[in-house]
Amino acid sequence: MDRTLIILKPDCVQRGLIGTIITRFECKGLKIVGLKLSRITPRLAQEHYAVHQGKPFYDSLVRFVTSGPVVLMVLEGNNIVEVSRKMMGATFGFKADPGTIRGDLGVSSALNLIHGSDSPETAKVEIARFFNPDELLEFSRTMDSWTYDLSSGLPQ
Ligand code: RTP
Ligand code: MG
Repeated sequence: MDRTLIILKPDCVQRGLIGTIITRFECKGLKIVGLKLSRITPRLAQEHYAVHQGKPFYDSLVRFVTSGPVVLMVLEGNNIVEVSRKMMGATFGFKADPGTIRGDLGVSSALNLIHGSDSPETAKVEIARFFNPDELLEFSRTMDSWTYDLSSGLPQ
């Protein structure tokens, strides 16, 4: 099944919203296959946000994601990138729709709680950036066959 990288950013950790956001993913039926509390180094932050280098917000973005502990997480599920990005909502809470993580839990136009990979290809690169292969677990849950219809062999 597909995987994506999620980062619960320093504002999420400082506001005590780790559990709230993880619960939303768990309630959706998504599987956590990697999880750790960490601090992103400036070098990794610069690499992670390299596509934004040169933009006016780049330096403050790197400062923001390195300003405190983060939770790094790998989620697994069918169409996981699309599903998790929809759950996150628009980039900033002041615009994100109610019902989304950013829309329900934040109002800032700078601090936005969460990062999620934006394509399956990016997800592969981002997961390898933050996780060693042995930190990602393969396991089945008793609820898997009630989360998806697995009768055809493919999760539906
Ligand atoms: P993310 O990569 O963190 O999941 O967020 P995203 O896809 O919704 O947004 P993206 O365009 O990739 O921007 C990456 C991060 O840069 C900060 N940003 N600031 N001030 C600005 O105009 C601005 N635009 C983007 C945000 O922290 C955003 O999450
Ligand atoms: Mg992005």
